[in-house]
Parts: sequence; C-alpha cells; structure tokens
Amino acid sequence: MSLKRRVLVIGPKLAPLAEQAMPKADFEVAAPEMVDAVNLMRSPFDLVLIEAGAADPARLTAVIGALAQTASPPAVILVGANLPASLARALFKLKRSDVLDAPLSPADLARCVASLFADTAGAGGAARHSQCWSVMSAVGGAGGTTLAIEIAATLASRRLGDRVALFDLNLADGAASAYLGAAPNMHLADASAAPERIDQALLDVFSLRAPGGFDLFACPRDPYAFAKITPAAVCRLLEVACQVYDWLVIDMPRHRHSWTIDVLGGSDELLVISELTVPALLAARDLAAEIEAEIEDARRPRIVLNRMASRMFGPAPSRAEAERALGRKVAGVVTSDWEAAACSANLGGPISQHRPRSKIVKDIAGLVDDLATQTVAGRRQSKKVA
Ligand SMILES: Nc1ncnc2c1ncn2[C@@H]1O[C@H](COP(=O)(O)OP(=O)(O)OP(=O)(O)O)[C@@H](O)[C@H]1O
Ligand SMILES: [Mg+2]
Repeated sequence: MSLKRRVLVIGPKLAPLAEQAMPKADFEVAAPEMVDAVNLMRSPFDLVLIEAGAADPARLTAVIGALAQTASPPAVILVGANLPASLARALFKLKRSDVLDAPLSPADLARCVASLFADTAGAGGAARHSQCWSVMSAVGGAGGTTLAIEIAATLASRRLGDRVALFDLNLADGAASAYLGAAPNMHLADASAAPERIDQALLDVFSLRAPGGFDLFACPRDPYAFAKITPAAVCRLLEVACQVYDWLVIDMPRHRHSWTIDVLGGSDELLVISELTVPALLAARDLAAEIEAEIEDARRPRIVLNRMASRMFGPAPSRAEAERALGRKVAGVVTSDWEAAACSANLGGPISQHRPRSKIVKDIAGLVDDLATQTVAGRRQSKKVA
C-alpha cells in the first residue's frame, strides 16, 4: 500500500519545482514565520522542503528543531547555497535529511527524495511489502462487511505467519465488530487531535484479536464519528499499520469521505461487491467507473457478485447477464447461504469458523487465491520493468 506523501514546502520559490518532482504528492506551502511547533504537531508531514534563503538562519534552525521534536519526524531537505553551520547542525538531529545546492532541477530533487525514502525502507526492514485490499458494497447490504471478514479470515488461515488486520472504516456504525462478537476499541476520534502520535503501540491498544486469527480495528458506535475523525488520522493509522501487518483488509464505507480517494488510491486491490439485482449491478458499474475516473494508476476495481442463488429461487440475472450489464467480467461469485451467514453473525465469528463447509467459504477461498496469485505475478512483473 502506498498512501500519498504529504509534503510541506517552506519558501514560495521551491513550490513549483517540488510539484514537478513529486506530481502525486499532497502539498502545503508555508512562509517560515507561519510554521510553528504547534501546527507541525497537529499536521504530520512525510517530507519538509526548506528554501534556505526564505528566512534568517535562526528562524530556520528553530523550525528544523521543532520538526525534530515531533513524534515521527519527517525527512527534511534544505535547498540553498553557502549554508551556515548552525543550519547543518540542526539537520544532524534528524534521521533523514539532505542538503541540495541551488539551483537544481526537478529530477535532482526527485532523486534526492527517492534516496531518502529508500534508506528508511532498508533500515531495519521497516517497510513491509504489505498488501491492502479494500472492499466496498455497491448498494447497502450487498455483503461488503461479510466478505471483508471472510477474506481476512481466509488470508489468516492460508498465509500462516503473516499478520492480517481488518479495518472497519464505517466509522460511525460499522458492523464488523458485531458480526465478530467483539467489543470495538479504536478511539480514532481522540487520536485525531494528534495524529502524529498514532504509532505501533497505539495500534496495539486499538486492535483486538478477532475469532478467525486476525486483528480487528473498529470504532465504537458514534453518530458524529465521520465529523470528528480527520483524514490525517485515517491516513496515519493505515500508514503505521502497513509497517506492522502483511495484509490489510479494509471494509470501506460506500459514501465518499475526504479520505476515500487516498485510501482507495493506496489499495492494491479494490473489490466492489454487488448483489444480483439490476439496481445493484447498475450501481456497481457506476461506482467502478467513478473510482476509475478519479484515481490515476489505480488497479481497476474488481466486481464480486454476492449471494448467487440458483434460478429456481427467483428470476435473478445469471452471471453472464450480470457481466453484460456491468460491461466487464466479474472477479468472482459468492454463493448465497443465509443460514451460514446468519448463524455465524449470531454466534459471533467468521463463517469459515462456524460453517466451514458452506459454499461461501469455498468461494471466498477461490477468490483470495486468485487475487493473491495475481498480486504476486504483478509484483514480479513490476520488478522486471524496474
Ligand atoms: N453470501 C451470502 N449469503 C447469504 N447471506 C449473506 C451473504 N453475504 C452477506 N449476507 C447477509 O446479508 C446481510 C448484509 O450483509 P453485510 O452486512 O455484509 O452487507 P454490507 O454491504 O456490509 O451492508 P452495509 O451496507 O450495511 O454496510 C447480512 O445479513 C449478511 O449475513
Ligand atoms: Mg457493511
């Protein structure tokens, strides 16, 4: 998973160069006098670019000192000629920093950024190759939560030794914890005041071990949660989780929030869940098209048909008819089994635990194996290209 890098540019002249060097990053531009320790704490950045000529060295030394004090200090690049020793000394306090001579090209800056972040990935193997799969229902009740739980349980049972986490990002009234019979403990609204403090220790507090062998991150019910939880907190949570877990499965809310595109854009797979009704198929087709239009370079969303039943039980579309309505092939189908789904939700736990012989379990296992194989193949392909 790779979320958008957040970059603070201090000094107006650097901004256009930075945007050319990192076209996909999120930028904030600030004058040095506007940067103080309090707003650095509130809004964590991955990278800070400082124009050495933008203010007097004492002011810039204070800014770099404040950055070094934050819970997870960003990488800092200082751009300028003939830098005073005081500034260079301040930079030494940071784990990741570099100095570039002005003038420089966007390519020089991009190379420098890449090497700073490559170094941290190497150090102690902190950067895991985590895989993030987001699951989104095309219409309410299509089965996103049920399928996200089964996918997490399947990954945990098939990939022994891998750490798997399920994130319920239906922040106000997510159902994953109820389906799993677990008490939600992710107090993300409190953490939103200081997102930079979200670290591995806090993740341990937020998570609970769910039946099925994975960790669950779910918020206690709160009708105002979407207003209270900031995009920075959601992004930071997932970023830290990527360092801890091998697999992140995200139960995404169907409606847009300010962080939706960031999360979907950083996902390795996007599964849109539809049921077999004409309105659901049309909604799935539109949702997939909306996502594709908004996220450059994202994996194409894959559509999964849930609650596939024999036609004996009603006039539902067939798989082929559904694919015609969708205008694309589906990634998989999951059989309808109300008894298994209801019984597992009532007992609290994945269907694979309470009804292991249900066709739902077999279908999800097939889907997970297909996706995982394609992911590994995709990785090999991208290595070759690199
Ligand atoms: N394959 C299936 N067979 C039978 N029942 C299913 C299946 N998948 C899901 N269900 C049932 O459908 C209902 C809705 O499922 P679920 O809560 O997972 O949907 P959702 O899309 O997450 O809903 P929401 O829009 O509320 O988030 C639940 O009662 C669940 O047990
Ligand atoms: Mg749901």
